[in-house]
Amino acid sequence: MTNERPGGLAARYYTDGEVFASEMDRVFARNWVMVGHVSEVAEPGMVVTARVGDESVLVANDAGQLRAMFNVCQHRGHELVTSGQARLDRITCPYHAWTYGLDGRLLHARGEEVGDVCVPRVRLETLAGFVFVNLSAEAAGLAATAPGVQDDLLARVPDAPRRVLSARRTHEMRANWKVVVENYNECYHCPNVHKWFTSGVVAPGSYRIASGGSVIHHAAERPGQPPAWTDADGDGDGARTARAEAVGADAETRAGDGARTASADAVGAGEGASAGTRAGDGGGVGDGYEAYFVWPVSAIQCYPGQVVNTFRWVPLAVDRTLLIREWWFDTADLTEAQSRLVSDDWENTVAEDFGIVESVQRGVASRGYTPGPLIEDPSGVCGVHSENSVRHLQDLARASLDGAV
Ligand code: FES
Ligand SMILES: [Fe+2]
Repeated sequence: MTNERPGGLAARYYTDGEVFASEMDRVFARNWVMVGHVSEVAEPGMVVTARVGDESVLVANDAGQLRAMFNVCQHRGHELVTSGQARLDRITCPYHAWTYGLDGRLLHARGEEVGDVCVPRVRLETLAGFVFVNLSAEAAGLAATAPGVQDDLLARVPDAPRRVLSARRTHEMRANWKVVVENYNECYHCPNVHKWFTSGVVAPGSYRIASGGSVIHHAAERPGQPPAWTDADGDGDGARTARAEAVGADAETRAGDGARTASADAVGAGEGASAGTRAGDGGGVGDGYEAYFVWPVSAIQCYPGQVVNTFRWVPLAVDRTLLIREWWFDTADLTEAQSRLVSDDWENTVAEDFGIVESVQRGVASRGYTPGPLIEDPSGVCGVHSENSVRHLQDLARASLDGAV
């Protein structure tokens, strides 16, 4: 850590394969990672697979009971399920056809007697309908890890557990996963980089990021004008529009003029907004923007109009990270307005970060890079002028690896 100045994580955390290998064990095998939603395994026999760090995990609906287990045959190690999703009565390994029940117990080994065999189980818990797994038997439960988050989400979107996957987009970035989640969790770059987001989704002056334990909570008032996708435009989602508008009216009453009139052009002036909340304190911003990041690689977001979307990041290599971006509406079919929102969000916000994180990855690998100081607000209030949340993430990363590399 010889080149580390206060506040900045040493470059090797983002570039050293040994650090990455250690993180697979000390971060990804010990923390809760979101792998999907209960609607994807709603019926008996439905199975999904997901990557958790360097492991493949499968989640199965076994006669109504959700189970997670390592996606590894106990014969010679082939993956049991090789697709992202499947519908199965039982799990037959593609290699030598050993066959397991959806509870992971071996049913037969093609007539051979091999004794009791069971695929090792993985802990599974849900949060407002989203399925998380944890490879560690010792880790604290999800509710203790993300206190209050489920209650907040259900208060905001009561039907979140009944939402379904309506859109999924993926993109592989040539950047370390920490470069990516640091970028996600600070809005210091938002006014400079994300014009659509800071004019169409949030009022940037009201943006607040509160970090505590494993959770980073983002909250902002919606911009002054109703977001385009909540407008009644004859596309059949009038009921949801009406509901959103009713909630929005309440937010308007509470938020005060300072926040309501903030615009992208007045980024520097929005200090008076009162959207600050602490992680897990049950606070919210009416029908504004909220996001809950759960260390290390999961985030659930609410956009105005009860729009729920998620980020999952999968570390593929020290300098490669896969993004899985998903949208959860009432039905699998998108309305025209929803479809436009998904595309606008991808093109005008999410994709704007791809080049940035890849540039940062090249930069931190440069001989010419020494970690600079983080811009921290001493009051602890983190908005669009500060990076307190980045400090928090770097502290988590350091603590995870302490003494290991
Ligand atoms: S590795 Fe699965 S049956 Fe042989
Ligand atoms: Fe960004």
